[in-house]
Amino acid sequence: MRPIGAVTRGTTGYNRLRRSDRWLTAVHGGLLRSADRPLVVDLGYGSAPTTTVELFDRLRAVCPAVEVVGVEIDPERVAAAKPAERPGLTFVHGGFELPVARPPTLIRAFNVLRQYGEEEAWRALYGLRDRLAPGGVLVEGTCDELGRRCSWLTVDADGPQTITFAARLADLDRPSELAERLPKVLIHRNVPGEPIHELLTAFDHAWAVCAPFRSHGVRARWIATAELLAGTRPVAVRPPLGGRRRWRLGEITFAWSAVGG
Ligand SMILES: C[S@@+](CC[C@H](N)C(=O)[O-])C[C@H]1O[C@@H](n2cnc3c(N)ncnc32)[C@H](O)[C@@H]1O
Repeated sequence: MRPIGAVTRGTTGYNRLRRSDRWLTAVHGGLLRSADRPLVVDLGYGSAPTTTVELFDRLRAVCPAVEVVGVEIDPERVAAAKPAERPGLTFVHGGFELPVARPPTLIRAFNVLRQYGEEEAWRALYGLRDRLAPGGVLVEGTCDELGRRCSWLTVDADGPQTITFAARLADLDRPSELAERLPKVLIHRNVPGEPIHELLTAFDHAWAVCAPFRSHGVRARWIATAELLAGTRPVAVRPPLGGRRRWRLGEITFAWSAVGG
């Protein structure tokens, strides 16, 4: 069977996906530990297997039984990744059809769908979601080259569930700058009248209100902004999830209903 999808630019880099890896291990480590023979697919790992190897090491630290398969549509990139294989970590040639032995508990696809059209991206999201093991989660996201501005969404059997933003706060003038790294299914929706635009506008407003917290550092300002969004009623946004332990890392998660209409 011909792999489903198209070869795209292979840009990747060391530690590029560290923010989402940190979130994955904290938020979904339990899901992996509770699974029988947990399998994770890293779809579209790029010109080098670096981020898949990092994902494997980080997941093994919280779930020693996990197996990771890197799936890449460019056969030369698969051949180049083979020397990095080790027990529990393999690389295979394939696409959205996912040529893996059993349904994965978790699929990670980062900086892959942005090269596709919005409709194709939705089709891929639902197609991948249908390949998950019962209770499994798909994490699809986008980030800049150095992994300092990121966003990702989760999809499970019931459809999209959450959107998370994560950033190096020192580089951020205002939260809406993260719009440039929105997942493909949202990036064209960031226009007035759309929920994602309202969310980012409310986020910027809360950020501006919390400007006095700057004197305590940018992290304190981010936490105060999240708390303001959590406490403000009525607001155009659903309250952020995760709590201070996640917010202090420069992260924030919202229910999909806050952006998906
Ligand atoms: C920009 S790289 C991303 C690398 C890595 N995930 C990262 O974020 O650093 C995107 C990779 O996805 C691959 N790709 C695109 N569509 C794919 C598909 N349907 N199945 C598997 N790989 C795909 C491309 O060939 C490319 O190597």
